[in-house]
Amino acid sequence: MTARSGSNGGARDVTVRVWRGEDRASGGFVQYDVPADPGMVVLDVMFRVQALRAPDLAVRWNCKAGKCGSCSAEINGRPKLMCMTRVSSLPEGEPITIAPMATFPVIKDLVTDVSYNYEKAKTIPAFRPAPLEPDGTRRMYQEEVDRVQEFRKCIECFMCQNVCHVIRDHEENKEAFSGPRFFVRLAELEMHPLDTHDRIELTRAKHGLGFCNITKCCTEVCPESIHITDNAIIPLKERVVTEFYDPLAWAKRRLFGQRPRQLGEKEPAAPSDR
Ligand code: SF4
Ligand code: SF4
Ligand code: FES
Repeated sequence: MTARSGSNGGARDVTVRVWRGEDRASGGFVQYDVPADPGMVVLDVMFRVQALRAPDLAVRWNCKAGKCGSCSAEINGRPKLMCMTRVSSLPEGEPITIAPMATFPVIKDLVTDVSYNYEKAKTIPAFRPAPLEPDGTRRMYQEEVDRVQEFRKCIECFMCQNVCHVIRDHEENKEAFSGPRFFVRLAELEMHPLDTHDRIELTRAKHGLGFCNITKCCTEVCPESIHITDNAIIPLKERVVTEFYDPLAWAKRRLFGQRPRQLGEKEPAAPSDR
């Protein structure tokens, strides 16, 4: 039986091949045929598998609206949100394969352990605002708001982390590389005009920006259409180059006795000029 090929009263049948297991070595795909209704998304099909065929199937989800980032999986080999992927958008006449994200350890079935991401998040210093201006306010221009707003759309689905070749098949790189989601977070903070932390050395030395060779795979899968490489990673790389490798900046430092800021060193307080 193939996807959406059979009938069951008013409903069509759909065939799914779902990865089941508690570790990569012993798990494998199990095929289920379930009735599907028009307009169903893949997450609905998983609910139907749970209801009719496999009540112990583990699936993580929360919002069913594309906003919590919980239901990420590899659907027909591509990372997608199960709640935002309509069955009708997938090729007809073929089983739909659903697998857990490959970059993270499996907990059970489609649920992976994404704690790597939370550990990386803890290492990024939080927003630290500049002092208030004399009139008791802080101001930013609208274009400054617009520039960082894109990064705030991240729903932490971790699909960009899942496709990044630096960590997908290289567990050994996870220590030194934080991945595109955290370059988005670092860019959001670095480009915030009211933030006073300097995270450029941190980005280079502890988050492994140099590992990224701008393949853009992360950008292609982002469900929020964040321009991860063009708007976050490349500007961060430019800032690292300016700070550490720009000969003019080097000459200026020699001339005025400055040195590049070191890891954890704070930036001098910015003058309040507007
Ligand atoms: S552009 Fe960089 S961060 Fe994004 S997937 Fe490629 S190597 Fe990874
Ligand atoms: S940047 Fe995009 S792909 Fe990456 S975690 Fe955020 S929303 Fe998901
Ligand atoms: S369930 Fe929240 S994004 Fe899919």
